[in-house]
Amino acid sequence: MHVGIIMDGNGRWATERGLPRLMGHKRGANRVKNIVKASSELGVDTLTLYAFSTENWKRAAHEVEGIMKLFRGYLQNNFAALNANNVRVCFIGDPTPLAADLREQMDALTNLTKNNTLLTLNVAINYGGQDELVRAMRKIALKAVSGSLLVDDIDADTISAHLDTAGQPNPDLIIRTAGEMRLSNFMTWQGAYSELAFVEESWPEFTVEVYTEVLADYRSRTRQFGAVILKPAKVSNKA
Ligand code: IPE
Ligand code: IPE
Ligand code: MG
Repeated sequence: MHVGIIMDGNGRWATERGLPRLMGHKRGANRVKNIVKASSELGVDTLTLYAFSTENWKRAAHEVEGIMKLFRGYLQNNFAALNANNVRVCFIGDPTPLAADLREQMDALTNLTKNNTLLTLNVAINYGGQDELVRAMRKIALKAVSGSLLVDDIDADTISAHLDTAGQPNPDLIIRTAGEMRLSNFMTWQGAYSELAFVEESWPEFTVEVYTEVLADYRSRTRQFGAVILKPAKVSNKA
């Protein structure tokens, strides 16, 4: 099962407590370890965490710098443990505008963990679903122009195979914390048939208990994928 999480509400969590927004990001970063660990125990084999969007550069420079610093710290502190815990780490999004030392760390962690099998952890950083599609279209167009791909052979699988998540299953469930009901450019293509869950808790408040409840609710749903799926009739206890 693939779960995507839009980790929202760090800023509000901090502001409501009279703290600077960055304190919320710090608390949020501290939640990641727990949720990653719980994921495989809860039957999740792919987890995508939306950490920084292509639109988040619009924020104040000190907030962006603070988030990047926390990201750097997360990579340093969890580098060895993620590998020891058999987690395969992938980064999705366009890494080009990120600092060189960050990109080196990301490449090193990707390489170190590439054969791990317990959980695939996608960290979405400078990620936007539209930007990902634009980059995919460019790769496909280049192949079409060079003649290695026929235009008539382009289908949905071709697009999927040129996204940052190539080879991975689509998210079964997308969870967004902190009450906003929108996707904010997350998994535009891959989320076509994802189930959605919006929870009131902000990301710093998103505990394993809340995560467990959301997954239990997801498991009670019937996914139709456009077909008509008849729910099994409820078995009555009465004779
Ligand atoms: C999510 O929390 C973290 C990032 C987008 C990097 P926010 O910073 O968006 O928190 P709110 O939505 O302002 O409360
Ligand atoms: C979405 O949250 C991006 C991440 C969680 C990384 P935002 O807070 O940036 O989204 P909007 O601006 O409320 O749509
Ligand atoms: Mg937000």
